[in-house]
Amino acid sequence: MMMAAEPPAGTALAALLAEEIRRAGPISLARFMALALGHPEHGYYHARQPLGRAGDFVTAPEISQMFGELIGLWLAQAWQDQGRPAPLRLVELGPGSGQLMADLLRATAKLPDFQASLELHLVEFSQALRARQEQRLAGWPVVWHAELASVPAGPCFYLANEFFDALPVLQLLRTEPGWRERRIGLGARGGLDFVLAEPPPALLAELAAHGLSAAAPGAIAELSPAREAIAGLLARRIARQGGLALLIDYGAERTAPLGDTLQAVRGHQPVDPLAWAGLADLSSQVDFTALGRAAARAGAAVYGPVPQGPFLRTLGIELRALQLLRQAAPTQHRALRAGLFRLTDASAMGELFKVMVLAAPGAPAPPGFLAPSQPGGGA
Ligand SMILES: C[S@@+](CC[C@H](N)C(=O)[O-])C[C@H]1O[C@@H](n2cnc3c(N)ncnc32)[C@H](O)[C@@H]1O
Repeated sequence: MMMAAEPPAGTALAALLAEEIRRAGPISLARFMALALGHPEHGYYHARQPLGRAGDFVTAPEISQMFGELIGLWLAQAWQDQGRPAPLRLVELGPGSGQLMADLLRATAKLPDFQASLELHLVEFSQALRARQEQRLAGWPVVWHAELASVPAGPCFYLANEFFDALPVLQLLRTEPGWRERRIGLGARGGLDFVLAEPPPALLAELAAHGLSAAAPGAIAELSPAREAIAGLLARRIARQGGLALLIDYGAERTAPLGDTLQAVRGHQPVDPLAWAGLADLSSQVDFTALGRAAARAGAAVYGPVPQGPFLRTLGIELRALQLLRQAAPTQHRALRAGLFRLTDASAMGELFKVMVLAAPGAPAPPGFLAPSQPGGGA
């Protein structure tokens, strides 16, 4: 078993943040997370290739080609069901190494109308990953965007796998006297540490709006205005302009605070999120209740969330695995079976990961879904 690495004495980003904290006081966890991942010079994603065995973590498209292939066929069907709008503007949020897109494009190669209509847009803030995506998608005309807002208007088909979990969260801790915000300040030795602060009234109102006001002392609530803002933006665009969004991430539906789900990972091992600021991946579980509500409020019909395992089985992953097993050399059989297991089994990603689709109210139900869980058409 791999040993967790010793934390560094201090990172370049931690030094910058400590300076800011000494000057202006503790910062929110959301600001910490945004900078730890996205600081243009010292952020985790700035110059790194974080995905895959040689990196820090592995995602579904990296586990097996079947993931991207099935999503490609799902997408082609959804496009067909919506009357084949052209151009077919395919927008991937946080495309990582470009693996999902590459597998999707290969799987749809025999659908010439689909491919001829494609216009590819990638929303990616990391220059290092943009370079990797460019390599992997060589030959395809791709437009990169730093933000969703610059993607042209019109019906778009959005994909986001493990994108929302990287967007910043805030945390509140329930104490005897009431809720306190968990912020990042300086500990006794001058390093970054969690501190408690009186939450601004707007944050308490937000907590109440999420139905999370009542909780026992010790409970931790995570809120993510950033995730909800993007879900709202996607929903507004889809409700007005058509298309749909397929969102896949780890997380849960919630009726009470989920607790502290922030995790930092480096070299496939959990590490202390503050000690490794800027050098480890950070993510937290996606609150699908909040995401779905934000999308419905912004006008979209919401389908799911459903667990990833059953979703991929409905799309025919077992059949595809059999097909690949028949063609593969015996040395590849183990990896294929392991990939199927990891993507679908309830003890692996099959239950923890969820699938949610946003569509325009009244549009055909997306493949794999019968009816919306929230009909949309709100404000
Ligand atoms: C966890 S990786 C997932 C990669 C890929 N979807 C996959 O499944 O392998 C997160 C991706 O989102 C990108 N990303 C994270 N936060 C972002 C932001 N605020 N704006 C744009 N891209 C972001 C990262 O650079 C990376 O490509």
